[in-house]
Amino acid sequence: MDFKSVNLVYFTGTRGTARVADAFERSFQKRAISVSRTELRCQENPVDSGELLVLLFPVYAFNAPKPIMEWLNKIQPVISRPAVVVSVSGGGEVSPNTACREATIRQLEKKGYHVIYEKMMVMPSNFMIGYDQSLSAMLLHAAPVIVDQVVEELLAGKRHRTTAYGIDRIASRLGYFEVYGGRIFGRQLKVNDKCIDCGWCEKQCPRDNIKIVNGRHFFGNDCVICMRCIYGCPQKAIEPGIGKFAVVPEGFNLSKVENRMDHLTVYPKISQATRHFSLRGVRLYLIESNCFER
Ligand SMILES: Cc1cc2nc3c(=O)[nH]c(=O)nc-3n(C[C@H](O)[C@H](O)[C@H](O)COP(=O)(O)O)c2cc1C
Ligand code: SF4
Ligand code: SF4
Repeated sequence: MDFKSVNLVYFTGTRGTARVADAFERSFQKRAISVSRTELRCQENPVDSGELLVLLFPVYAFNAPKPIMEWLNKIQPVISRPAVVVSVSGGGEVSPNTACREATIRQLEKKGYHVIYEKMMVMPSNFMIGYDQSLSAMLLHAAPVIVDQVVEELLAGKRHRTTAYGIDRIASRLGYFEVYGGRIFGRQLKVNDKCIDCGWCEKQCPRDNIKIVNGRHFFGNDCVICMRCIYGCPQKAIEPGIGKFAVVPEGFNLSKVENRMDHLTVYPKISQATRHFSLRGVRLYLIESNCFER
C-alpha cells in the first residue's frame, strides 16, 4: 500500500502514548512519508488531513479515554479513508483489555473510515502498580522496534484486525464510568504546602482543568484521571483526595527511565522481568518484539 502522507492524532497523559507517536513519526519519515501530528487537548480543532489516519490512545478502564471520543464526535465524515487504531496499555493484549479499541473503531467507521490495522502497544503502567526500572526500560526499547514492524506491514498491504473476548466487551463498558469517576477524582485533588506556585500544572493539564487564582488551585469538572499533574508536579504537591490507590507510590517519570537506559548495557531475560502472573500480556508483547532473550 502506498501512502504519501499520514495524520497522527493522539491523546496522552504521562507521555507514554506520545513516545509511541514519536516512534510512528520517525518510522514514516524515514520512509519519506510526510507526517502531520496533533496532540489532543481540550480546545483542539478537529483535524482532517493525510491519506492515512493513525489514531493513538492510552487504555483507560479497558477503553479509550474521553478526549478520543470527543474528537471522534467532532470530526467531519470522510469517504472511505483508511485508518489505524493503536491502543497503549500497561497490561497488553490480554483480558480484559481486548475490547479497548472497539468503541473507537465503531465510531471511526460511522465517520466513513475503514480500519485496516489495529495494534496494542505496551508502555510502563502509570496506574496502581508501577514497573521496575529494567522492565520500563525494556518497554521503551521495544516500542520503536514494534512500530517499525507495524509500518512495514502496513506498507506491504497487510491488514490486521482482532476479535475481542465477549466478556471483555462488557468490561470495556466500564470505561464509560471514567467520565463520572474523573469528575469526582478531579474535584477531590488537593494541593499541599510544598507547592511553590510555579504554574506548571495549570499549563500542562491536557484538559485545562486547573486554574490558579491568587495562589489557590481550583480543579474543574473535566479531569480524565490522566495523572499528569500528580506525577509531573516538580514538588509532588498534588495528591488525590479519593482513589489514592490509583497512584504509583514511587511516582512515574519516563524521562528518568530514558536517562538510565543510556547506561544500561544488559537487560534481564523476559521471563525474569515479567515473572508476576499479572504481566502475561507484557511478556507476550516483549517476546513479539524479538529484542530480548526469552
Ligand atoms: C485512569 C487510568 C486507567 C487505566 N486503565 C488501564 C486499563 O484498563 N488497562 C491497562 O492495561 N492499563 C491501564 N492504564 C495504564 C495506561 O494505559 C498506561 O500506563 C499508558 O501507557 C498510559 O499512557 P500515557 O502515558 O500516554 O498517558 C490506565 C491508566 C490510567 C491513568
Ligand atoms: S505544579 Fe506543583 S508546585 Fe507548581 S503550581 Fe502546580 S502544585 Fe504548585
Ligand atoms: S487535573 Fe490532573 S489528572 Fe486531571 S486531567 Fe488535569 S492533569 Fe490530568
